[in-house]
Order: sequence, then structure tokens, then C-alpha cells
Amino acid sequence: MGICSASTFSAANSPHYLWIGENFMCGIVGYTGKQNAVPVLMQGLHRLEYRGYDSAGIALQQKKGLGIHKRAGKINVLESSLPKRIKGNTGIGHTRWATHGEPSDTNSHPHNNNDGTLAVIHNGIIENASQLRARLEAHGVSFKSETDSEVLVHLIASTEAASLIERVRIALTDVEGTYGLAVIDAAHPGVIVVARNGSPVVLGIGDKEMLFASDTSALVRHTQQVVYLSDGEIAELTPGAYRVITLDASPSQKKTTTIDWSAETYDKGDYSHFTHKEIHEQPESVLRALRGRLDNKFQTAHLGGLNLQPRELLGFRRIKVLGCGSAYIAGVLGARTIEQLARVPCDAEPASEFRYRNPVIESDTLYLAVSQSGETFDTLAAVQEIQRKGGRVLGIVNVVGSSIARACEGGIYVHAGPEIAVVSTKTFVSTFLAFVLLSLHLGRMKDLSVAEGKNVLAALNLIPQQIHSILDAEPEIERVAKKYAVFNNAYFVGRNLGLAVAMEGALKLKEISYIHAEAYPASELKHGPLALVTPETPTVFVLPDDELIDKNISSIEEIRTRKGPVLAITHPPREGTQQLFELVDDTVIVPKSHPILDPILMLIPLQLLAYHIGLARACDVDQPRNLAKSVTVE
Ligand code: F6R
Repeated sequence: MGICSASTFSAANSPHYLWIGENFMCGIVGYTGKQNAVPVLMQGLHRLEYRGYDSAGIALQQKKGLGIHKRAGKINVLESSLPKRIKGNTGIGHTRWATHGEPSDTNSHPHNNNDGTLAVIHNGIIENASQLRARLEAHGVSFKSETDSEVLVHLIASTEAASLIERVRIALTDVEGTYGLAVIDAAHPGVIVVARNGSPVVLGIGDKEMLFASDTSALVRHTQQVVYLSDGEIAELTPGAYRVITLDASPSQKKTTTIDWSAETYDKGDYSHFTHKEIHEQPESVLRALRGRLDNKFQTAHLGGLNLQPRELLGFRRIKVLGCGSAYIAGVLGARTIEQLARVPCDAEPASEFRYRNPVIESDTLYLAVSQSGETFDTLAAVQEIQRKGGRVLGIVNVVGSSIARACEGGIYVHAGPEIAVVSTKTFVSTFLAFVLLSLHLGRMKDLSVAEGKNVLAALNLIPQQIHSILDAEPEIERVAKKYAVFNNAYFVGRNLGLAVAMEGALKLKEISYIHAEAYPASELKHGPLALVTPETPTVFVLPDDELIDKNISSIEEIRTRKGPVLAITHPPREGTQQLFELVDDTVIVPKSHPILDPILMLIPLQLLAYHIGLARACDVDQPRNLAKSVTVE
């Protein structure tokens, strides 16, 4: 299987990944080399914090054997519990999100075997853990924790072979489930063995040092040379080298990928929050999504990674988009764009629901799986369901080399750069742009005229500058945010593309500020939601100056009659729309674009609104409660 390059998806013959587990939100990191591993591990664990966790731990090879330190709670609890002069050149670290067993010191990773010679960290779910546990207990093994992961360390301890990699390989042939795991052994100084099945593991190649982690954010401070393990692969890391084998002991040849991002990308820089930084990065992230893809000769877009011949692409009679959360909403927006520009019937559905309705998979439907992380369990499961039934799936993904990117036969990387804040902001906009590019590409193969293609390209070229102008108006949005921060409920409404913007705006507000926010089509207000419109329930109205503006003004009148406060995100006033500005309580005015691109400019104020309301309500905007960046649970 080919590793994905930064600009294209893997070749059409990628294997379909077998992912049967539930949870691998945890983070793993490890180091072997000449430095003291402790600061490397702690820094790596901090980098992985954004994934969400409730306990953390490390294991080190030390002079007197393995040292294990683990604590329930935040990483600084672990840090303050570490001995002052702790040292070791080889170590592994873990952040745990509890599934089997409550968050406690004992249930935290690493786990060790009964004589303390082995330590294991694990992301994933061992599905036959209870059978393995019973078998091991019958042979006298005593378990300390309630976790499924602990069986791994005892299972490895029960094997015999000269090398650690061989012991791990033998043990894993008995394991059913998902894992991204790492093992160290007191008897093999400098050696770490890692293995992957359904939970990401990336190796980092340094100068006489090797690292690994569950994602590249924990590696970039040390190296930009990485190797993505595939499912069913096991790697042995020593300070100067690595080798990879498969579960059946065959050697595996791996390609090194250079990651584009430097360590600074993962820092907040001058911003107080990643959310704020990422909202402000959008002029650049938009440029990256467009770079090299706009074709002024034929007034179309180039998309190198689709891996589909033009005739194949034209042969699809329908397009179905699948994603979760913001990725789904970007899909709703994208589906409407595809229909409008390319005139191909297209709709979006939450990927989390898809496989439960025994979907009919049609050979003339193109399926698009949308995911920022490329690791969302439900989206990957939808991809597998489609592929199992013979359907064709392309990905629209941000993280290069991620599981969904590799499972799909081609696709579009959105190139938004790493997104650290839990909520999607810049990746939403870049994902939507990927849909615009696809719509333009497909539209120009069909009935979209040269003149219209030219209009879309001209508008795309203006977007970064227009985003800058909205970001410059942030103080005004902050003022409005402070006013609306006092409410506990809000409606977000719009029509057509504006409705999808309203859906994303409502999701952002919910996540960042914990205000109950519901999105509705403006046309549906009188069919129910108006019952709850009072002076205490504001409506955020996404109101482009388009052919529906008069209908939208009537909807605003319905709200104002019930004394509901209205904040309108709209275009500059013109003759015929002035009454709107007298009707609403507050407005945020954004520049006009091509109607297809208006959603981008209407959404950015809503991202800033949610951010400033979250701040005003003293919420943890970067890591909202109960949410993780990469939702790898079913
Ligand atoms: C919302 C948010 C989530 C994700 C969803 C899918 O701000 O971040 O709703 O959009 O969990 O994640 P990906 O795109 O990684 O598949």
C-alpha cells in the first residue's frame, strides 16, 4: 500500500482497513535515543492533550529496571508526582480516556506484568479480553486493573522468543480488537516495539533517535520525517534504526513522509486560545486549499488525487456525502453546491446513522466521506459499509495519511493544516472549499459555462482578502457577543445555503459556550419554533442579499412581532433592504461574494461570535467539556 503524499490520495488499490474496535481517543508517545526521555514524553503528552483524556502515565527503562509513573487526572498531576531527578533514555507515555474501568491510578497506563519486566501502553479495545484474562488467570497471572489493555502485557509475558518484536507478534496473533500499542522490556535496553491495528501509530525518525506517537503533533518538535504504520504491522525501534514486520512475520517496506508542519504550528503563538488562532489562520488556510488547483485557462479546478478518469466521474448519476458533526454540515453545504454548479443530485447524511439502515449502495452513486481527522470511527465504518457492498468512496480529509484517507480510493486533501482546538473552524471552511472545487471541476465537465466558471474563480481569488476584512471587524463582533452571552437559548435560521451556515453556527455556539442553540430553516419557523420565540430567545439570522431576502425579511417580522431579539449576519444595505436594518436589533455586515461562496463569509462572524460568547461565559473554549478532537468511539 502506498503512503499518501501531501498532495494526493493513495492509489486506487489501497486495502480496505479492518476496524472493529471502539475507542482509541487516547494518546501514545515514545522515545529511544541519547536524550533523557522524560521531557520528550511529557512534552509529547501535552501535545496530545487536545484529544481528550482523564489520566496519564509513563514507563522508563532505568538502571534498576522499569520505572512506571501514572496518575488519574491531568498531566500536571503526573508531572508533580515524578521524582526530581528521573532519567532514562527509552520510554513510553500514554493519555487515557476511560472505557473499561473508571479513571484511576491503577487503571491508567502503562501496565506491567507480574515480575515488572514489561510495560505496555494501548489505545483501542481488546474484544476478547475476558477470554484472554480467564486463560491467563488460570495460569496463575494476577491482574491489577479493570482494563482490557492489561491482558496485553500478560499475554506478551507468557510468550517465549529471543526478540521482543517476536514475542509481541506471537501474542498479537491471539488478540481480537483494535490497538495502537507500545511495549518496553527491561531485558532489551533501547528497544521499543509498537504495533497497529485500527488505531494510528506514526514513527518519527530523528538523528540517532526514534520516536512514535498516535499523531504527528507529538513528533514535530523532534523530526519531520515520519513513517505511518498500517494495520497489522509491528515495528521495532532502536535509537539508530527501525524495522517493520507484519503479523505473519513478513518484512514490510515502508516509505518515509516529510510532514509540512513545524513545531510552531502546534503553539498558540500570540493568541490565548487555539480556537482564536485557527479562526485567524483562515486567510492562509484558504489559500492552501486553493493553491495549484485553479485553472484559469479552462476556468475550472484541478484535483489531482481523485483517481477517477473523467468518463468515470461523468458516469455517476448521484453523489452521497457522509460525515459527522461539522464534517456532516460541511457536506450539507457541499451537496447543495454540487447540485447548483454541477447539476448532479447530491445529498448529505450523518455517517453515524448510515450503516444502521442497511443502505442501498448503487454503482452509479459516488460516495464522499468527509472527515477533518480522518480517524472518526463512524465515518470510517460508513466507508467500509459502502466498500463491502461494492460502492466507490472518495475522501475529503484534512489529515494526510489518516485512516479514512487511506481507506478511500482517492479524494481531496483540504490542506487546512493541523487543527488543535476541539471545535472545527478553519477545517470546516477548507472542507467546504474542497466541495466548491469539486463542484467547479464537475460542473465544467458538464453544463457550467466558461463565464460562470470564471465568476467562481474570480470570487475564490478574493476570499482570503475578504476574510481578512471580517477578522478586522472582530471588536464589533465581540461587542455583540457580550450582549448575547446572557441568553441560555438561541435559534439560528437561514434558507438554502444559509441554513447550512446556521447549522454550523448553532453547533459552534453549543460546543464553545454551552448555550442551547438550534438551527431551523427560516421557512419552518411558523411550523413550530415560533412558540419559543420570546424576548429571552434571540435568533441569529443568516441573511445573504439574494433572491430569498424578501422571504427572509418576512420571517424576521414574524420573530420581531413576538419580541424575539434578532442578530442578522448580512450584506451591506442597498435600496430595497434598508427596512431590514431598522427591523433587527444587531447586524454584522460581511462583504458580498459569489452566492456559492457567501457561506464562508457569513460563517466566520459566527465562529467569532461563539468564541467571544464562550469567553464571556468563562468556558474552556479550546477543550469543551465531554468532547474530544478525534471521536474514535462508536
Ligand atoms: C465540531 C466538531 C465535530 C467534528 C466531528 C467529526 O466542531 O469538531 O463535530 O466535526 O466529530 O470529526 P472529523 O471531521 O474529524 O471526522
